[in-house]
Amino acid sequence: MASEQLSTQPAGWSKGTSNVYGSRFASQHMPSDTFPDDEMPKEVAYRMIKDELVLDGHPMLNLATFVTTYMEEEAEKLIAESTNKNIIDHEEYPKSVETEKRCITILANLFNSPMLNSKPTALGTACIGSSEAIMLGVLALKTRWKNRRREEGKPTSNPNIIMSTGVQVCWEKAARYFEIDEKTVPCTETRYVIDPVAAVDLVDENTIGICAIFGTTYTGQYENVKGINDLLVKRGLDTPIHVDAASGGFVAPFVNPDLIWDFRLSNVVSINVSGHKYGLVYPGIGWALWRSSAYLPPGLIFNINYLGAEQLNFTFNFSKSASHIIAQYYQFIRLGRKGYTSIMTNLTHTADYLTSQLREIGFTIMSTGGGDGLPVVAFRLSPEQRIVVDEFALAAKLREKGWIVPAYTMAADCESMSMMRVVVREEFSQSRCDSLVNDMRVALRVLAEKEMVNMQRYQALMRNQIEIGKTFCYENTCVQVNEIGDNVSDGV
Ligand SMILES: Cc1ncc(COP(=O)(O)O)c(C=O)c1O
Repeated sequence: MASEQLSTQPAGWSKGTSNVYGSRFASQHMPSDTFPDDEMPKEVAYRMIKDELVLDGHPMLNLATFVTTYMEEEAEKLIAESTNKNIIDHEEYPKSVETEKRCITILANLFNSPMLNSKPTALGTACIGSSEAIMLGVLALKTRWKNRRREEGKPTSNPNIIMSTGVQVCWEKAARYFEIDEKTVPCTETRYVIDPVAAVDLVDENTIGICAIFGTTYTGQYENVKGINDLLVKRGLDTPIHVDAASGGFVAPFVNPDLIWDFRLSNVVSINVSGHKYGLVYPGIGWALWRSSAYLPPGLIFNINYLGAEQLNFTFNFSKSASHIIAQYYQFIRLGRKGYTSIMTNLTHTADYLTSQLREIGFTIMSTGGGDGLPVVAFRLSPEQRIVVDEFALAAKLREKGWIVPAYTMAADCESMSMMRVVVREEFSQSRCDSLVNDMRVALRVLAEKEMVNMQRYQALMRNQIEIGKTFCYENTCVQVNEIGDNVSDGV
């Protein structure tokens, strides 16, 4: 840092001080309530914020997230160079807009869009993530259903959507925000994905569509989109399916290309995918695609012309940086099919390897390996392990080593089941996997030993005849002994 630069800073800079930690700002609280009156030198502002952020977890050790935490330097450079371009400004940034169009066409082909005159009929838009893409998809389903009902002179007051209880929260949000009833197919203690028969049985005249999750957030398993589609066709129902391929959309086409889940299925009308998950771009970018313009009601598309040219728009937000779209395009052309295939195949192998290690330790595995689901390992303690430890204690213990491996409860109807999950991403190499497994073994041992000591203490407490009526206090918690005899021994 140039010291002359700091000492020449005007207002707010301690006289004679030329370093960040000697400045008066270093002895003050960071502004958190009111707008600060004075300026702060840029070096100080940068350092203070950077120092605060050090207390965040390390993104690469965050095994809870599906979101990309590594990109090549060239991609980061493109992001930095285009972050000040607003993609909505078509007139000003036609090349960025062209990049978005290319990405959509590439995705339409990847998801096997029907073709017309050698071009995919599917169309779409970049979004901030899958949540926005799902909101748009649900809105399109609802509007199409409503338009059709109106044409038939039927009421439009009770739309419903069918989904499993294992959906990500954005589906519940979409249903609530757009006033659509949720018809849910419950997960069970042995099935963590939708049951196609139960889903199709729920269809009625007010059903706007069925959600199929292609890679559930809980276990990474693929819901049986083909099963739902085939059943609908068999029963002569044209109920549309929206595939939530937030994660699977960038995994299955490369690891399991023969798995049929996309526009190859007649009732699949829309698909979302997160560019910032296995699309390998930093957050936030997602994509929404529709089978053809027939599935995107014109009333939802706005024509805006006040930025200098006529342009069509179907998103919730208006302004957005072009940088992540450009970064997505970088990944597409940098990696190609070959690159995505080798990365996703490696991740799948690592997930399978982790699965085998965890099974060896004694965990019960809930995810499906071998490329039949995401490279995600969902697991829970076996009944024997559960006697001395629970998933939440294990997650907390691993946090001490820097690992973020979430413990959580299963979807509605199975909330009594606790579980843990590791999302295998690019930087999670085999050796990092070995370190995690090693730390997990140690954590389990330490927790079990601690629990044993606690049990021994408790037994001693019982044996040593606790005085009835005596009160024991630790910090703010006091317990009165009501039942067992005499004195507690020293040290208990
Ligand atoms: C299946 C599924 N759908 C939707 C979402 C929401 O995606 P985003 O974070 O891109 O908004 C997630 C996020 O984890 C997800 O796993």
